[in-house]
Formats: sequence, structure tokens, C-alpha cells
Amino acid sequence: MPSLYPRFILCRCSLRGSAATVVRSIATSLVAYFGVCVVLGVAAFSQAQRSRGDGINDPALDARVDAILQKMSLEEKVGQLVQYSAGQPTGPGTGRSDYGDMIAKGQIGSLFNVIDPKQINMYQRIAMEKSRLHIPILFGLDVIHGFKTEFPIPLGLASTWDPTIIEKASHVAAMEAAADGIKWTFSPMVDIARDARWGRMAEGAGEDPFLGSAMAAAYVRGYQGSRLDAPDSIASCAKHFVGYGAAEGGRDYNTTEISEHTLRQFYLPPFHAAVEAGTTSLMSAFNTLNGTPASANPFTLKQVLRKEWGFKGLVVSDWNSVGELIPKGVAIDGAAAARKAFVAGVDMDMVSSLYHDHLQALVSSRQISAAEVDDAVRHVLRVKFALGLFEHPFVDEAAAPKALYHPESLELAQTAAERSFVLLRNADGPDGKPLLPLANGAQNYAVIGPVGDDSSYPNGAPPGSGPRTTLMGALVARVGQEHVARYKGCGILDGSDQEIADAVAGARKADIAILALGESPEMSGEAASRAHLGLPGRQQELLEAVARTGKPIILILFSGRPLTVPWAFEHVPAVMAAWLPGINGGPALVRTLFGDVNPSGKLVVSWPRSVGQEPLYYNSNNTGRPPESTDLTHAPRNIEERYVSRYIDEQNTPQFPFGFGLSYTSISYGATKISADHLNARELNQDVGTNGRTVVTAQADVSNTGSRAANQVVELYVRVQGASTEQPVRALKGFQTVTLAAGERKTVKFELRGDSFATWNDRNQLAVEPSKVMVWIAPDSAHGTPAQAEIVP
Ligand code: NOJ
Repeated sequence: MPSLYPRFILCRCSLRGSAATVVRSIATSLVAYFGVCVVLGVAAFSQAQRSRGDGINDPALDARVDAILQKMSLEEKVGQLVQYSAGQPTGPGTGRSDYGDMIAKGQIGSLFNVIDPKQINMYQRIAMEKSRLHIPILFGLDVIHGFKTEFPIPLGLASTWDPTIIEKASHVAAMEAAADGIKWTFSPMVDIARDARWGRMAEGAGEDPFLGSAMAAAYVRGYQGSRLDAPDSIASCAKHFVGYGAAEGGRDYNTTEISEHTLRQFYLPPFHAAVEAGTTSLMSAFNTLNGTPASANPFTLKQVLRKEWGFKGLVVSDWNSVGELIPKGVAIDGAAAARKAFVAGVDMDMVSSLYHDHLQALVSSRQISAAEVDDAVRHVLRVKFALGLFEHPFVDEAAAPKALYHPESLELAQTAAERSFVLLRNADGPDGKPLLPLANGAQNYAVIGPVGDDSSYPNGAPPGSGPRTTLMGALVARVGQEHVARYKGCGILDGSDQEIADAVAGARKADIAILALGESPEMSGEAASRAHLGLPGRQQELLEAVARTGKPIILILFSGRPLTVPWAFEHVPAVMAAWLPGINGGPALVRTLFGDVNPSGKLVVSWPRSVGQEPLYYNSNNTGRPPESTDLTHAPRNIEERYVSRYIDEQNTPQFPFGFGLSYTSISYGATKISADHLNARELNQDVGTNGRTVVTAQADVSNTGSRAANQVVELYVRVQGASTEQPVRALKGFQTVTLAAGERKTVKFELRGDSFATWNDRNQLAVEPSKVMVWIAPDSAHGTPAQAEIVP
């Protein structure tokens, strides 16, 4: 993996752009000189363009789009901008169900939540056979961590720190969904999430814009493949544009206040990366952003997205986010809501029906222009053409199931799960050695807790028809039924004294107790904000009761967010975050517990000690009163200890920092060195945003000082001091995974360029300013020995 992944992506894109320019000018010259070859030359050029898979950016689409646009009535044009959910709803209903009639009249451009390929074909047949212009319907769905082969939730996938795994997993999702007739996924969610109360943290790549950008691009590449019109590619939709993750109080759908500086520095980069990677669409968010709802926000949707980034694709609203402009108070009626959203740049209205109800009248009354409607329709049609929907509108119903659960897909789901686990603690067991990994041998296990043997919980999605093995099932397969006893102990939210007593008695009989505790899948994701982040229900009580037996305990946490369980981190020897690990989570866990796999996942969100610390993120500003040398483990005892930026009843630091994750071996890091200690701001600035040359190399020795081979995610952080805006105490600017044999030492190198030191300045421009910089190559965001350099004017 390249050390500076988003730069690599930029590089691919700009090469693609310049190659296209060269090909285009050669083609133009040929046409001028050899008139007779015009037809052949153009054909070859257009073939070359298309074979590079330019997707919606393919200029050859313009003519096709305009040809059909010319024939369309206003009603049909508006129809392309209208989308409904025609299956299991994922939000409050609309009351409509006459989709067949509407499609026949050309009044619908897209449907979603239709999963049965027969039903998909049924609707598509109406569009292709009964509507006047035979424009196919675009079918969408929230395919967010796999279609039927469920991968770990995105938060878990990101914990692999491996964009390649994400790309492969999303390609499997695309293949399965496309075979079912779904050609558009509302994924990836690239919202920066700094607050574990927000349940949708589960759906994204965590708190960091650099990592989030790498993951965003990987999802897009995986879904869209090398050609959008390939049978196993689907269109991606980066969501929710923008700032949704900053919902106040972590409460879903809540309002957000984000300065332009912070928006550009933290929240926009993953969207930009998705656009650079060629995402076909973006979804406008629910949140109000600095007073203007994101689904009616011309600054983000037009200025940033279209003008600054040159996005040519489709913007769809979120579920009724156009209608929600009314309760938000920025529109007094449906017509005003439709006008505001449309004029701001929302092309397609998901569910609210307000575009259907009002756009034609708004054009007639000249409140919106016909030309703007044409542009929005172009965005929709480009996607349909780029996907090859006009050529292949129908799905092969018989073939659809054959795409599901391929052995390679299931294996990938298992590997992804194994790579996603984060080992948080591994203290010594009774033999004086770390409790994990477990020894193979005739030990007896008690599997305790609500998650241990429930096939829906570990997967983070309602059970499909696929093969599933629970933690319990996988353990039985490994050590034999006679060595495993199962005690539920309690439910996720409920439980009786008797159940707890039975589990305690069971633990007493066993050699080792494995506690599988956490949240149910419905406790994270959309509309699942939590004000308390501890173990729900009676699970903490169960944990403490089992621990009192004195038996060695392994705690496996299943959740869509970090959980505040400080007691466990003090008293339970081994704790692992398993997130919601997908269809093969059970076997992946057992292989990890027994050391077939050495855990290598690292946190992509700061793990809080208590909910009062939220929002909590490593890349924060320092404040003018950093506590630095103050001991925060007790309440302030004097003025020096009090008047600093702190809580009087909690530490500032997280339980575990961003980037943290243990393995079964020990890894040590040498001091960071950089190849130059004076850098030139002018030269660096020429490099910003260009994927230019390496200006400095940072390196550190990383050694495996233990006795097991390991994959180690090595992280590179930068701090800039003295610039015109206050910069975070650290910012991730590179990462790579190195494999280290037992006892092996490697010198790990990172290349740094202009972008590595560029910050958003006091005029909201990305630039390198004269400053002092520190560079860490480190195991996580809180450790490492930095090198220093000066950036001179
Ligand atoms: C609302 C969610 O916010 C969004 O992420 C999802 O794609 C749509 N519903 C469609 O289900």
C-alpha cells in the first residue's frame, strides 16, 4: 500500500485526465489532416475513452443524453428527478404506492428498496414497454457492508486500515447487488464521526479525514469497478453531503454548526476523495449546516461541489430531506421546499414527492428555469447511460442467486473480519503469560452473553439466507461440543437473576469464560443515537458477576461504536473490539482467539472513558491552557491544576487513542528521522494539490520484539505550528501496513509532499505557510518520538 494513499489516488486521476487530453488532441489533429479517416478516427477515440471507463465523466455521453433530452416533455423531465421507496421503508412513509402508473407516464426516474429481481423487472418492463421514451428506471438500495455476503460494518472495515480490503469487499457487494438488478448503492457514508453517541458512526470510517479519504476512494473504486457499465459494477453515492456527522449532542438528524475552516479541513476531504475517484452520485444530508439545510445549501452543493470540484454526477436528496425544509422553517410550503432544494443543487428528490408535485408549476411560473431542469435531468441520464442501463435494463432473474455467497466472497468476508478486530487489552492469565492467544488443548469454555450464539447479532444486518456460524458454533467446531457450554446470562436489554446465576455457575465449571457482550445491530446505524455508552441492560452486572468467580475472562465487545466500559479495562484481562463482524464473524473470531491470526486492527475513532468526553477526537486543537504536565487522574487541588482545559471529574485522554491496537507480539518504534530539516514554503506550495514530487522522506525503525509474526499498521502524523490558523496537535498524513517476522526490524519510510504540510489558512485556502513542523512515525496518535523541521518562506 502506498504511504500517502489519497495522493496516489489524485495521481491516478490526474494522469487519467492528462492522458485523455493528449488522446483528444491527437484525435483532433488526425481528423484535421486526414478527412477521410474522420469516422474511423472518432470511433477509435471514443472506444479509447470508453475502454478507460470514464463513467459519468465520459464526454461521449453528452450526445446521447442531449438526444433524448430533446424529446422529453417537462413532465417527463421532472419524472427523472423523482425517486420513491417501493419496498421495505427505511424512513417515514409517503402514502404513495401507484408507482406502476407513474412509471408508465414517465413520472419516476428511480426506485429503491426493491430487492426482488422479479419485482425489479416488473417495474422496469413498465418503463421500457409502456412509457413513451423507454427510459429505464435506476434501482437503488443501501448496500453498505455487503449485499448478501455481509462484511463487517464500515467502522470495522476501516479498522483494517486497508483500502484494498474495502475495495474488494465493495466489489463483491456490487457484484451481488448488480446481479439482483440493483445498480446504485447509497454508499459509502464518508461522514467524519467524532461522537460515539451518534449511531451512524458505525457506517463510516471514523474521525480522520486522511484515512476517511483513502477509504472513500476505495469504496468508490470497488463499487464502480474499472468500467461502470460492466455487469458487476454499480454506481456509488457518497453521503451525506455534508457535516451530518457533527449532529449536536450526537443526536441523529440534529443541526450542525461547522465553520468553513473546519468544514474544509475535516468534513469535506473524504467527499472530495470520492469525487476524485469518480463517484457517480452524492446524497445531500439531513442536517442544517450553519443555518442553511444541507439539502438546500448552494455553498456546498454548487460552489464547492460543482464549481471547485467539477463534479458532473448526480445529487440525490436524503429521505424526505426536501420535505424536511418545512419543519426546519426555511420553507413555508411544499412548493417553497422544492424550489429551495432544487435551486441549491439537489437534482433528485428522494421520497418527498415535492418535485413531482411542484417542479412543473415552478418552471411555468419562472421560479426555476427550464435550463436548470435540463441540467438536473442530464445528471440523471448520464448515470443511466454510463451504467449501460439503456442497453441492459433487465436483470436475469434466474442468474441472480448464483452471484451470492461465492466461496471467495465468504473467504474475503472472513479475512476482512479478522483484520477488523482491535485487541484492546491482553493482560496476563493464570500462567503469567498474556491470556490471548488461547492454547490449543483440552480446556473447557463457557460462552456467556447474549451475543455468543445469536446469528443475527454478529452480522449487523437481518439474517439473510446465507451460511452463518456464530461464535459459539465456530468454537464448537474448533474444540468439540464437549468442551463448550453455553449460558446466555442475560439479553441485550433484559435478563433475570436466574440467568445471571446460571452463567456464574457455568463459568465456575469452565477453565475460561468467553463473554460476548455489546449492542444489538439496531442500537447503531441510523436513528440509533445513545446518551449512555456503557453495556446496555444487565450486561455490566453479568460481566462483574462472572469476573468474581476468578476465572480467566475474555471479553468480546460487539458494537457499532466504542463502549464506555472502564471497569472492564481494569479488571478483565483480555478485551477485543469485534464491531459487528459480518457473516463469517464467528469463525474469524475463533481463529483470532486461538492465534491463527494475529490481531492487527487499529481504532479509527478515539475510545472514550466516559460519555461526557464526547465529542472526542485526536486531531483537536491544543487550547491556550493545555493541561500538559497536570495530573488529571484526580480532581484539581490548587489553582494550577484547576485553570486548565480539563474536566474536574474525568481525564482528557481517551481510554484508547485513535490508531491504537495491540497484537500478540510486541512492536517497538525507533525515533522518527526526516531527510531535511529546512523546507521551502514556496516550493511546497507549487506542489499542493498536484500530487507533486516528494520533498522529504520520514523514516523510523519498527521492530517486532516478540515471538510471533505480525502485520503492523504504521502511522505518520504531522503537527504544524506557527501557521495563520490553529492546527491540530496531530494530523494523520500517511499509513502503511508492514509485515514483521518475529524478531524482525524494518525501516519504514514515508514520502511527504506539499499536501502533507498544507493547512487551510485564515483565508480558507489550502497552502503551506512558514512554520515549524513535527513528524511522528508511531503506533498510534498518542505515542512516538517526533522529528522536527522548519518551513521557511
Ligand atoms: C436515510 C439515510 O439517512 C440514508 O443514508 C439512506 O441512504 C436513505 N435513508 C435511504 O434508505
